[in-house]
Amino acid sequence: MTDAPPLVRIEGISKSFGNTVALDNLTLDIARGEFVTFLGPSGCGKSTTLRILGGFERPDKGRVILDGEDVTTQPPEKRHVNMVFQDYALFPHMTVRQNISFGLELKGMDKANIKRRQDEIMAFLELDGFGDRYPGQLSGGQRQRVALARALAPDPALLLLDEPLGALDAKLRGQVQQELKSIQQRTHKTFFFVTHDQEEALTMSDRIVVMNKGRVEQDGTPEELYFHPATRFVAEFIGETNLLSGQMRARDGDRIVMDWFGHTLSGQAPAGPLQTGDAITASVRLEKLGFHTTRPNAANAVQGKVVGKTFLGSRMALDLVIEETEGAVLRAFVDAETGQAVGADPIWIGWDSDSMAVLQD
Ligand SMILES: Nc1ncnc2c1ncn2[C@@H]1O[C@H](COP(=O)(O)OP(=O)(O)O)[C@@H](O)[C@H]1O
Ligand SMILES: [Mg+2]
Repeated sequence: MTDAPPLVRIEGISKSFGNTVALDNLTLDIARGEFVTFLGPSGCGKSTTLRILGGFERPDKGRVILDGEDVTTQPPEKRHVNMVFQDYALFPHMTVRQNISFGLELKGMDKANIKRRQDEIMAFLELDGFGDRYPGQLSGGQRQRVALARALAPDPALLLLDEPLGALDAKLRGQVQQELKSIQQRTHKTFFFVTHDQEEALTMSDRIVVMNKGRVEQDGTPEELYFHPATRFVAEFIGETNLLSGQMRARDGDRIVMDWFGHTLSGQAPAGPLQTGDAITASVRLEKLGFHTTRPNAANAVQGKVVGKTFLGSRMALDLVIEETEGAVLRAFVDAETGQAVGADPIWIGWDSDSMAVLQD
């Protein structure tokens, strides 16, 4: 398993457009059958990466290895790769069947086999009965499925999906997310899915690669990225978090002891080196802060006063000014009952060192 060669190897790819560096020495492996999400803000190089993988763009430097073969200079039609675009790019003047057969005809498949494959893929994606409709006669979700059917029909080794759910409204989007995930699991295909939506990435992926300014910021499971962000960018981009700026005091195995306005706190150490006295930032998620009437038996404990409450339905967000700081505020999620019960008196806030990640930068 572990020594199986990856389906895709992106090797030190750089790409600039004029003075804009779209990709800066990107290296990435994708295993066979993996659902990998490429997550990052607009302009960080996601589409450029997909276009290079699909063969629509040449990198300035670096190589793309697909299934052991260097395909860097191969045209799109030679690669076992297909792409689904945000706007689906369906041919409006062609029926669903014609849209699906497009890639099969390009491959030189004969009529009987095209018909068989169309039927197969339409049944699989629950598009039976829609074969003679035009894209304009379909709902957003149906168009999405046709785009997928068209991309999957030629049986590509790798499917590239560039923000394919961007055009759907929130409710349908959630539904299609589940559908897409289930299609990936049933086909065992390798999906490289692009989104700028962190929630979508968290719900759908086996693995998330967070991109920032043409570089990989962090690569891991949704849980790793959420609970152990390596950098400030990841901590802030994924979910909501408290950032605590202080000084490095000591390293104790995989823990860092830090000083935060005179409070001694302990958190998970980052991978890179840190020196005593370095200015550091730690991240602790809102739901990791616990409330206590007396000093809790936790690695980290401070006292604070609630200065704001926001009712969010199933839970409540509390803003707390922490004592013996220069007015630092921590935000916490609690269940609505706990939130309502908290009064104006100072209370203890505790969290353990596993819940706090000291960031690399
Ligand atoms: N054909 C192009 N010509 C000029 N600049 C481009 C071109 N394609 C992409 N860029 C620039 O490269 C950067 C990365 O773009 P892109 O890969 O589309 O980002 P993303 O998909 O993450 O939003 C952006 O600054 C974008 O403006
Ligand atoms: Mg894009």
